[in-house]
Amino acid sequence: MERVRVGFVGCGGHSTSALYPNFRLVQELELVAVCDVQEQLARRNARLFGASAWYTDFETMLANEELDAVFIVGHPSMHEELGLEALRRGYHVFTEKPTSLTVQGARRLAEACRESGRVGQCGHMMRHAPALVLAKRIIESEEFGPLNFLESKYFTPGPNEPIWGIESADWSYMLCQAIHPVDLARHIGGEIVRVAATRCRPHRQVYVVAVEFASGAAGLLNLNGAAPSWETRLEATGDNFTFVAVENMTHVRYETSAAWPAEFGSDLVQISSRNWQVPTRDNSEVRAGYAEQMKHFARAVLEGVAPYPTFQDEVRNFLVCQAILRSCEEGRAVEVEE
Ligand SMILES: NC(=O)c1ccc[n+]([C@@H]2O[C@H](COP(=O)([O-])OP(=O)(O)OC[C@H]3O[C@@H](n4cnc5c(N)ncnc54)[C@H](O)[C@@H]3O)[C@@H](O)[C@H]2O)c1
Repeated sequence: MERVRVGFVGCGGHSTSALYPNFRLVQELELVAVCDVQEQLARRNARLFGASAWYTDFETMLANEELDAVFIVGHPSMHEELGLEALRRGYHVFTEKPTSLTVQGARRLAEACRESGRVGQCGHMMRHAPALVLAKRIIESEEFGPLNFLESKYFTPGPNEPIWGIESADWSYMLCQAIHPVDLARHIGGEIVRVAATRCRPHRQVYVVAVEFASGAAGLLNLNGAAPSWETRLEATGDNFTFVAVENMTHVRYETSAAWPAEFGSDLVQISSRNWQVPTRDNSEVRAGYAEQMKHFARAVLEGVAPYPTFQDEVRNFLVCQAILRSCEEGRAVEVEE
């Protein structure tokens, strides 16, 4: 197989603005067919993004086309239900986050993927944003030293109301937004085993969560759904008096306690600081990680590199989100369920 032949289900807002445009950047993927129950959207995306066929029915698309992989992007129940069906039939699957509305559903998808032996990858683009990939490499370097502390800040304008037919506004926010910084913190800091969360006004999604990583490092999830716009920051310190910060997935600052070389003025500058503005694949700041995660999925199918995040990662993300809400309710630190 030289290119991965993709059938894409869902021609809605997010997929059309952030995912479909990347097929032109990721040559390893071939967009063969698109599918949406709304015919005009399926027709539109086939035309806009160069698919040779469009469908209004998932089954018909699978029956008519020779595909290697299916992308599923829309309602979380669609990720779970169509994802299970696609894996059962032997396709590789990419879904957006969250993979389901429930922990049980996320587990079902992860288990089906494990049994199928196919590639399953979930859409947490922050893991693939080049600036955060660089930060992870810095954090894992010998010079940085073992991670002591990691903060994952994530500010968004909501949602503060229930979405996707979920009853609880809190669980809606967790699955829609909090799951991003949770996944990123786990990716960079390792497994989260314990959380102690507090929140302010119950009608707003604002949480401060102290977390403990399995490594013993401490962390802070700074989750805020009451901000005027999207804003993220990651900060970490290492045991060698080192510090790294990533602003909005594009600007990286790395500081060590090593003084500058004598010829430049070690008497003046006691801290060595390096700054990068890291370009993304399409040179756009707001799209960091989207094309890269699709390229990674293609490499997982074609070259056998490990996909990430996996559907099993998403189960763990759900469990951390669940523990955050439990900790708020019970007013104490709680272990993350296995
Ligand atoms: N990673 C990110 O940064 C990010 C950002 C925004 C949204 N998202 C995720 O993306 C998803 C939303 O994507 P969207 O905005 O493209 O969704 P959307 O709701 O706008 O569109 C979903 C489309 O799927 C179609 N559809 C529903 N059932 C179908 C079926 N059985 N077969 C074929 N088509 C069907 C609908 O007609 C609709 O056009 C959510 O899960 C959300 O969490 C992720």
